Amino acid sequence: MEEKKKVIFSGIQPSGNLTLGNYLGALKNWVKLQDENKYECYFCVVDLHAITVRQEPKDLRRRTLEVLAIYLAAGIDPKKTTLFIQSHVSTHSEAAWLLNCFTYIGEASRMTQFKDKSKRYGEAVSVGLLDYPILMAADILLYNADLVPVGKDQTQHLEMARNIAQRFNNLYSPTFVIPEGYIPEDGAKIMDLQEPTKKMSKSSDNPNSYILIMDQPEVIRRKINRCVTDSIGVVNYTDEQPGIKNLITILGAINGLKPEEIVEKYKGKGYSQFKEDVADAIVGELEPIQQKVQSFLSDKKYLENIYKSGAEKAYYVSNKVLRKMQKKIGFIPKA
Ligand code: TRP
Repeated sequence: MEEKKKVIFSGIQPSGNLTLGNYLGALKNWVKLQDENKYECYFCVVDLHAITVRQEPKDLRRRTLEVLAIYLAAGIDPKKTTLFIQSHVSTHSEAAWLLNCFTYIGEASRMTQFKDKSKRYGEAVSVGLLDYPILMAADILLYNADLVPVGKDQTQHLEMARNIAQRFNNLYSPTFVIPEGYIPEDGAKIMDLQEPTKKMSKSSDNPNSYILIMDQPEVIRRKINRCVTDSIGVVNYTDEQPGIKNLITILGAINGLKPEEIVEKYKGKGYSQFKEDVADAIVGELEPIQQKVQSFLSDKKYLENIYKSGAEKAYYVSNKVLRKMQKKIGFIPKA
């Protein structure tokens, strides 16, 4: 008998240009998970999340399609995976409202990301930013996701989704699967090139601190060449040399070598050869992806077909769960 496949859900916001960190840390793993054929995967471009901070409409449109094209170029296959744009599936907003009413202000305002961002935006912080993890809970719970691949910075949000789900299940009757975070063992955490103790982020103010998936080869080479290292001069995988450690992580995520093997290979060689090789590896990995992204973006009709059928599938699945929620809460079912 065929066992029910575990469900995986994840998403990336189209709020900035995607970085090498998004690619090596998330996308490359999603493709691996998809290709194991053990899971039912849903990957989403979370545009509703992106408007928690102000977005220029034309940039949001451009980036939303670009993120979709990057998913495809990285190897997400719409025949195997449900690929969609969050705002096309109305159940996400509807379920988020319902879940709002099962979430306490206290737990929402304790979220580290909310606290950090509200410091940064001050009075101008939107209610949406407080609500962000509840919408994320809706994303996940609507598909009864078992596993949610996320970075460490999202584990607190995931914990909140679990609490909300548990609360709802206890109040009514079992409705939601309690999701688990999935941090793959070999998932690469790529650090900031200028401050290698921080995670690489597309929202950093300094463009030299990240590499974008769409950066041109000469830009990539320059950023790697200028990245912060140390004066020790030996290629070693240690926390004392966070810059070099990060470059080893990047190289290993691309060529599949273990850190020890890379260290061995660069014994007695200086940083400049090492940096050059890292830059070559990144360029070699990203160039074919960039070409595919461009070709997808030049075929809007194809992209439209993909996101249209993805949204239909996602709506069908999520609406069943939404209806269950509505019924348990006490709403009159639509005739
Ligand atoms: N908050 C996530 C991030 O910024 C993005 C996201 C939104 C997400 N909804 C999700 C991730 C559901 C996993 C599952 O990284």
